[in-house]
Amino acid sequence: MSVTILVGGQWGDEGKGKVIDLLADGVDMVVRSQGGNNAGHTVVSGGREFRFQLIPSGILYPQVTCVIGHGMVVDPRAFLAELATLRGQGISTDNLVISDRAHMVMPYHPAFDKLGEQQRGDDRLGTTARGIGPTYEDKVRRIGFRIGDLQKPRFMEKKLRFVLRLKNEALTRLYGVDPFDEQTILDEYMQHGELLDRYIRDIYPIVQGAIARGDRILLEGAQGVMLDIDLGTYPYVTSSAPTAGGACTGSGIPPSRISKTIGVFKAYTTRVGYGPFPTELHDGLGERIREVGAEFGTVTGRARRVGWFDAAVARYAVNTNGVDAMFVTKLDVLDSVDPIRICTGYVSKGESWDHPMANISHMKHCEGVYEEMPGWLSPTRDCRRLEDLPAAARAYITRLGEVSGAPVEGVSVGPDREHTIVLGPLIP
Ligand code: IMP
Repeated sequence: MSVTILVGGQWGDEGKGKVIDLLADGVDMVVRSQGGNNAGHTVVSGGREFRFQLIPSGILYPQVTCVIGHGMVVDPRAFLAELATLRGQGISTDNLVISDRAHMVMPYHPAFDKLGEQQRGDDRLGTTARGIGPTYEDKVRRIGFRIGDLQKPRFMEKKLRFVLRLKNEALTRLYGVDPFDEQTILDEYMQHGELLDRYIRDIYPIVQGAIARGDRILLEGAQGVMLDIDLGTYPYVTSSAPTAGGACTGSGIPPSRISKTIGVFKAYTTRVGYGPFPTELHDGLGERIREVGAEFGTVTGRARRVGWFDAAVARYAVNTNGVDAMFVTKLDVLDSVDPIRICTGYVSKGESWDHPMANISHMKHCEGVYEEMPGWLSPTRDCRRLEDLPAAARAYITRLGEVSGAPVEGVSVGPDREHTIVLGPLIP
C-alpha cells in the first residue's frame, strides 16, 4: 500500500496535470481533495490535449478509480460539461465517483463571487469567478448544499426555500440585482441529479477499502501552497487548503497513512490574480518567459504574472507540507535565459526573512535577495536523462533542490509525457 500526495509548491499552475498523468499510470486510485473548477489541469498525451477542471486526470487510465473527494466543491453544470467533453474524446468515465459529502456550487455562487469582486474595487482578489469562495463560505456557514442532497428532492426544496430567502435578500438589498427563482433552480438541479446519480457515492468504504487492500493511491492537489487559505498570501488566496494537510481532510485519509509527498515547482514562478509576488519580472524578460512558457490561464485565459524561482516560497512549501521530493517543471522555458536568478530570501524594513511573511503589505514591498547562475543557452527538450542536460542546467536543478530543502526526483522539459527526466522513485 502507498499513499502519495502531490501538491503545488507555488501559486498554482505548476504543471501538476502532467505530473499526475505520469504518476497515475502506476496507481489504482486518484483522489482530488479540494477546490473545484477554479483549477485547470492540462495533460498532453500521445499528441492529444486533455483539459481537466473537476475530474481527476487519472481518468485517462481505465484501470484507475477516480474519486472527487468530499473536500471539493462541485458545480454540476461544469461537471456535466467536462463529462461530455471527455466522452467526446473517447474517454470512459465508468470508474469515476463523487463523494455525496462534496459541496455543490449553486447558481447564485458565481453571482456572489463577481459581485464581491466588484465591491472590492481596486482591492479585488482576481478570483476565477466560478463561485468557489462563496460555496466554501456557505459550507462553513452551514447553509451549503451537498452533492448527496440531489438524491433528496424534498429536502432540497425545503432547504432551498430557506437559503434562497437569505441569498435573494442580499442580492436585492445589498447589491440591487435581480433575485434567483426557486423553482427554476430546483428544476435544473433535479435534472442534474438524475444525470449525476450513477456517480454519487459514499466514498468512505471506497477509499478505506483501497487502503485495506493495499492499493496505491495518489492524492491530486489543485492550486498551490501560496494560495492556501491559511498559509498563503491572505487574502489573495483561494478558499480551500491545497496542502498535504488539506489532502488528508478532503479525502478522509489519515496523515499516518501518507507514504510520500511530492511538491511540484515550476523552474521559475507564476501567479494569476492579484497579490504579492516578490520575484515578479516587470520587464521584457518576463514577457518573453510568458510567451515561451505559454503562461495564460487554463480556466480564465488570463496572462499569468511571471518571475524568478523563489526559494523562500519553495522552502516554506517543503517544510509546511513535508515535501519528500520535488518535481521541477518547464525547465525548457529557461533554455534561452542567461543569467538565471534564484531568490533565496527577502529584506523587509531592514529585516531579513527566509520565508513569506504574514504582513501582506511587507510582503508586497519586500526586496528579494538573489543569487545568479549562468544559463545553458541550448535546447533541453530532447533530454531524457540527467546526463543529457547541459552542465549549467544540471547545476540549476541541483541548486533548486539545495535551496528548497528537498531532492529533485523529476524534471519536465516539455508538455508531452515523454518530455520528462525521472531521477528518483517518485511513487513508492
Ligand atoms: P478563487 O479560487 O476563484 O476564489 O480565486 C482566488 C485566487 O486563487 C485567485 O488569485 C485565482 O487566480 C487563484 N486560483 C484559483 N485557482 C487557481 C488555479 O488552479 N491555478 C492558479 N491560480 C488559481
